[in-house]
Amino acid sequence: MKKYYVTTAIDYVNAAPHIGHAYEKIAADVIARFYRVRGYDVFFLTGVDEHGSKVEKSAQAAGKTPQEFCDEMAAKFEHSWKNLNLTYDHFMRTTEARHEKVVQSLFTKLKDQGDIYKATYNGLYCEGCEDFVREINLVNGNCHIHQKPPRELAEENYFFKLTKYKPAIKKWLEENPDAVQPDGRRKEVLNQLADEELGDFSVSRSRKSLNWGFAIPGDEDQVIYVWMDALTNYITGVGYQTDDELFKRFWPADLHLIGKDITKFHSIYWIAFLMAAGIELPKQIFAHGFITVEGQKISKSLGNVIDPNAMVEHYGADAVRYYLMSGTPFDQDGDFSVADFRRKVNADLANSLGNLLNRTLTLIDKNAGGLIPDAKPENDLREKANALHVVIENHMKKLEFAKAIDATFALVDQTNKYMNDEKPWTHFKEGKMKEGHEVLFTSVEMLRRAAFHIYPFAPKMASDIWWQLGNDDEIGIPGDSDKPDGFWDMVPVGQKVRNSGPIFKRLEGDEEAS
Ligand code: ME8
Ligand code: MG
Repeated sequence: MKKYYVTTAIDYVNAAPHIGHAYEKIAADVIARFYRVRGYDVFFLTGVDEHGSKVEKSAQAAGKTPQEFCDEMAAKFEHSWKNLNLTYDHFMRTTEARHEKVVQSLFTKLKDQGDIYKATYNGLYCEGCEDFVREINLVNGNCHIHQKPPRELAEENYFFKLTKYKPAIKKWLEENPDAVQPDGRRKEVLNQLADEELGDFSVSRSRKSLNWGFAIPGDEDQVIYVWMDALTNYITGVGYQTDDELFKRFWPADLHLIGKDITKFHSIYWIAFLMAAGIELPKQIFAHGFITVEGQKISKSLGNVIDPNAMVEHYGADAVRYYLMSGTPFDQDGDFSVADFRRKVNADLANSLGNLLNRTLTLIDKNAGGLIPDAKPENDLREKANALHVVIENHMKKLEFAKAIDATFALVDQTNKYMNDEKPWTHFKEGKMKEGHEVLFTSVEMLRRAAFHIYPFAPKMASDIWWQLGNDDEIGIPGDSDKPDGFWDMVPVGQKVRNSGPIFKRLEGDEEAS
């Protein structure tokens, strides 16, 4: 059995999740569902990053202990992700007891073998990034991402010998062009590696400046740097040192899905830690773009933080998932606009797909006794659908979600056009039952395909279509999804359809869509 292990970045719990966090988690769920319905053994890991200065300060400001604060926030994240229908196999919390052991043993191993040593850190630290920063990267004295001045730090720390691993990381990137994607990010990482200033870095903080983190075994005055702790979640989550069988089954990760702002931590620091520990490297790190809201950066001070729960409550999880994945090429930045959202889901989900299902089932009820008629499929459309199937599979494997969705709707549009051209209702009026049934059979088959392809994005709606087509099983292809012809042999002829109303109710007050 083929396996697939996908992870997301783990979010800081300093604030509640927004639509940008949801974007990444939805994408990971799309991937997990895509491989699952194709028979893969899938593990999907997500979770939260609970240690570090940012979280410690937010807890203080909320008048809570860090642990109390984290417990509450972690529950909020999980609640949002359940609302969005995310099917993760484990929700990782970095405060898990087993994680402390893993992180501490990694730290000790690297220290014992001489890859971690003690020295004094003198420099700047940006709390927003949880990163040591350099003067030349500041804009008017501020961190260019967080628009705040970094803190000056002068403390005795433990350093990781990154310099020792830089050549090996470079070689890995050169030999594995897919290892870091998209290509622009890969080049960025190669440039960072070429920069001599990127040297050994601190992997601890003094307790005087930070208390909320894992202790360093044998040195109670220091806590482990939050990024070393956080990155390690990817192995803890699949049982490293606690469940050998699970770890062997899923590691190395097939995909670390992350946002573009944290590429360096993954493509350089994480890879270096794994190399030092002698652990196999992940197959791919993919950095997606950022979501803006109505053209503006998401920020508390701008007051444009969209709560994914409110969106789900208003529009349903399928619509939110579908819009976020269809609107923007995944490797680029994209915008979330409510007007565009309403227009897109009405046009695609309610009109194109919803209407195709509705008109097909209504005609079957009227002219075939509500049973899927036995007929031969129409060949032209079959050829087109088979070609599109291959196109969609390829886009999905490259995380080109918007293109995969476009190809799916090309199939739906062609089927709607086929119905309009063939006019099965005139066949029935003229008593040409065989001809009419052929059109309906073909449309049912196309709807089965569309449901299958739309499933990772809009799982509830896809399952509804599947059910209305008379199926009682879960959506999926038994056997080999690379052979789309198999679809045709599986149309459940004679099965009773269930025409139970629109699968997606048009959002009202939308003037643009027709
Ligand atoms: O970086 N659009 O956590 P985080 C798209 N704890 N993605 C966005 C986004 C937006 N507007 N805003 C944030 C951290 N993200 C660390 C990760 S992993 C071992 C540790 C993405 O809460 C961001 O790029 O700041 C990242 O992938 C994720 O949300 C969590 O961001
Ligand atoms: Mg961030």
